[in-house]
Amino acid sequence: MRRMHLKTEVQVFKKEEMEKAEQALLEAALQACDQAYAPYSDFRVGVALSLDNGHIVKGANQENAAYPMCICAEPVALSNAKMAFPAAKILTMAIRIKSGRQKISEPAAPCGACRQMISEYESRQQAPITLLLQAEEGEVYKIEGIENLLPLSFNGTFLT
Ligand code: THU
Repeated sequence: MRRMHLKTEVQVFKKEEMEKAEQALLEAALQACDQAYAPYSDFRVGVALSLDNGHIVKGANQENAAYPMCICAEPVALSNAKMAFPAAKILTMAIRIKSGRQKISEPAAPCGACRQMISEYESRQQAPITLLLQAEEGEVYKIEGIENLLPLSFNGTFLT
């Protein structure tokens, strides 16, 4: 028997400690929460992506009365970016949350399906994506690549 120890690193920042560009991206993600359609959960998720061509692309969750059809903010933003700028690489993904039901100050990490999707985009662009997570207020979690949130990921190398 042997053990594998898988390392996950999350850097925790106060907002003021972040670089100006990162603060601006976090602000854009918070603004994207206003474009969420979340009448059922009252839980808004906003995403802002910074691209290597200088553009910022946003996404927000889009719910449906048939609950399984709800679309998370992350795939909305990632698809928007790939459609608008197919050749651009995604550098950073900022994710903010806003609940109408409770005050949350702990950042929310992407759900499992979204982690898988982020992993696919990293594979496509052959470069990691930095994640910045923050609730409506409070600390910022900085994560350098989805491998930190999705170790032992299933990916296209198994299918070649
Ligand atoms: N949601 C996201 O947008 N991203 C996630 O990673 C987790 C959950 C949305 C889906 C749904 O509209 C609401 O949050 C509550 O689950």
